[in-house]
Amino acid sequence: MIPAVQEVALAQQLNHGTSFPLIYRAEAELQDIDAVAAWVQANQQPLLEQLAERGAILFRGSPARSDLDFDRVVQSLGLANFSYAESLSNAVRKNRTERVFTANEAPPEVEIYLHHEMAQTPVYPSKLMFYCELAPSSGGATPLCRSDAVLSVLEERAPEFVRRCEQEGVRYTNVMPASADLASGQGRSWQSTLSVATKAEAETRLSALGYGFEWMADDSLQATTPVLPAIRSLDDGRRVFFNQLIAAFRGWQDARNQASKSVSFGDGQAIEERDMRIVCDAGEELTFDVPWQTGDIALVDNFLVMHGRRPFQGKRRVLASLFA
Ligand code: FE2
Repeated sequence: MIPAVQEVALAQQLNHGTSFPLIYRAEAELQDIDAVAAWVQANQQPLLEQLAERGAILFRGSPARSDLDFDRVVQSLGLANFSYAESLSNAVRKNRTERVFTANEAPPEVEIYLHHEMAQTPVYPSKLMFYCELAPSSGGATPLCRSDAVLSVLEERAPEFVRRCEQEGVRYTNVMPASADLASGQGRSWQSTLSVATKAEAETRLSALGYGFEWMADDSLQATTPVLPAIRSLDDGRRVFFNQLIAAFRGWQDARNQASKSVSFGDGQAIEERDMRIVCDAGEELTFDVPWQTGDIALVDNFLVMHGRRPFQGKRRVLASLFA
């Protein structure tokens, strides 16, 4: 299976005896986008099996050179779209095609910390695809981290914290601005986040989703999620640290939000800073930074692997697409 690509070794992470992520390099016969799309389509099943097992596949040296090329590769995988417009994502993004959008419009110096996409909401995509349209001149890697590996480490270093995560779940609190805040990694307005135009519609939508909320004096909206799971079991029985705790604790800091107050256990009790430091350290230790080259495409299993964005200098264009 999978002719026309060759597995290559970079300094990957070793997790449970396998290298992470799996990395393929396109051979000469895959140097036009039609050939790539046909190859992905023909190899859909083995690719999805490898993805489920390893968590991420990086395709190096693809001939994709535009958002339209990337859109073709996305479509060739044959999976349903997860629409950003309908999601409760708090990131500001711009669509390039119906399925392809800019990964996050936050400024270069802002780090986006490790997270499972939209794990801070009740609806999340199962897989993500990234495409590097333009590699940054420095920095800007996409950190990838296996959450089954993180959970194993946490069970040793913070067993009581893991037990509470499992039994009580977690809640997230975030203040959404009344208009998009491009200086923030969580700057999507409440109107756009909730797909509504008025405060009354916002309240109806949040109530239906089980959120608590409070209006702020400047018309921004503080919302607290219902209890969400912090640990999930995959179909194959592996348990994963599936949540947005690291990103919220380290990164939900802006004009409206204080990061350390953005997460709690399901019963509303604060999560100890000491425990969160253990979690953040484990994430860093187990992270592989994707060193983007223009044309790279990465497929990520959102249930098994967290991702983020390192700060960068110069221009960087990484596009993304989500699968339901
Ligand atoms: Fe993300």
